[in-house]
Amino acid sequence: MNFYDGMMYPLEKKWLAEKREWLMQFVKGEVLEIGYGTGTNFKFMNTDAIDHLTALDTAENDSVHSDLPIKFVTGTVEALPFEDNYFDTVIETLVLCSVQELERSISEISRVLKPGGAFVYMDHVLPNDAGLAKAFKVINPLWSKVANGCQLVRTPKALFERNGLEIVEAIALERVYLIMASPLSAFKDAVNVQ
Ligand SMILES: C[S@@+](CC[C@H](N)C(=O)[O-])C[C@H]1O[C@@H](n2cnc3c(N)ncnc32)[C@H](O)[C@@H]1O
Repeated sequence: MNFYDGMMYPLEKKWLAEKREWLMQFVKGEVLEIGYGTGTNFKFMNTDAIDHLTALDTAENDSVHSDLPIKFVTGTVEALPFEDNYFDTVIETLVLCSVQELERSISEISRVLKPGGAFVYMDHVLPNDAGLAKAFKVINPLWSKVANGCQLVRTPKALFERNGLEIVEAIALERVYLIMASPLSAFKDAVNVQ
């Protein structure tokens, strides 16, 4: 287990793994995962539903192994090296919190997704609670320095819509404040989460 996986292990086991599993049910066809990191999502994917998986990150991670048909690409989400309308699914988990250009990244994701495709998203955002939001804003400058540019104050929801991504289900989980899964309209009937 590498350092990132070791650090994330308690959170992963107690909480994140089941969210990943839920999200991965929407993953199918020609798939792009941006910021795959150590490949934590791979084991939750349904191999039968996936034609090809393209996994992009800023640097290749040699320790990642999977039985899925994966093409590893080095690049950034702000400038995706893919044609318009190419992917059925784009996955991001815990990446848009730390990209340098958030709106450009969302616009690129929207560009490479086919109409009716799904953007499968899990990340933390600025809390709705005014007190907590204030606290997050205070600690954010220090946090982003120690956590590789990770921002605690992002509010990406409106940017999705501005960039052509219709939000089908957004779940703000109390206290931890993750918003999850915004598949596009083709998935509307498949999603039924309170
Ligand atoms: C916190 S890790 C998350 C890894 C994995 N997605 C997960 O859910 O555990 C963030 C990952 O995003 C990648 N990343 C950060 N900025 C990026 C960018 N602009 N374009 C592509 N990947 C990026 C990092 O290299 C890192 O692997």
